[in-house]
Amino acid sequence: MITYYVYISRQKKSFSNEDLDLLLLNARTYNATKNITGILFYFDGIFIQHIEGNSIDVVGLFEKINKDSRHDDIQVLKSGTVPERRYLDWKMLFKNIEPEEVEAFFGAPQIKESDLFGPKDKAYSVVSNLFETISV
Ligand SMILES: Cc1cc2nc3c(=O)[nH]c(=O)nc-3n(C[C@H](O)[C@H](O)[C@H](O)COP(=O)(O)O)c2cc1C
Repeated sequence: MITYYVYISRQKKSFSNEDLDLLLLNARTYNATKNITGILFYFDGIFIQHIEGNSIDVVGLFEKINKDSRHDDIQVLKSGTVPERRYLDWKMLFKNIEPEEVEAFFGAPQIKESDLFGPKDKAYSVVSNLFETISV
């Protein structure tokens, strides 16, 4: 079985492109060694991530992510086990969503922070829509 987590969080300080590049480089290197796959979105200072892999590795990674002082307000929207991976080939696909791309990604002209950090079922449905745009 494959264990997965879908969570959102807020940056604690603004990430430059270089900060994001470094985060990704390290994440991809580590994820490749553990065969952890998934997606990371960055949108208006908010991170949205899906990580998946062997239980022990994914739980271990999530503990590290949870302790990372670069972000806070970490909300797990969904986690569990599934028979197969969703993102077979992506050791961490990354997309920085610009404000003008919001409609294309979320299917709505505007995404309110309160939709993401409000009730989890609503947040998960917003995030699922977002994942659908990329998982083709
Ligand atoms: C939003 C966010 C997503 C992250 N995703 C990953 C990831 O997929 N893989 C990874 O190895 N580190 C990721 N990190 C970095 C980890 O939080 C942590 O810095 C890294 O695992 C090194 O931890 P360590 O110094 O305790 O070994 C992420 C950090 C943030 C803020």
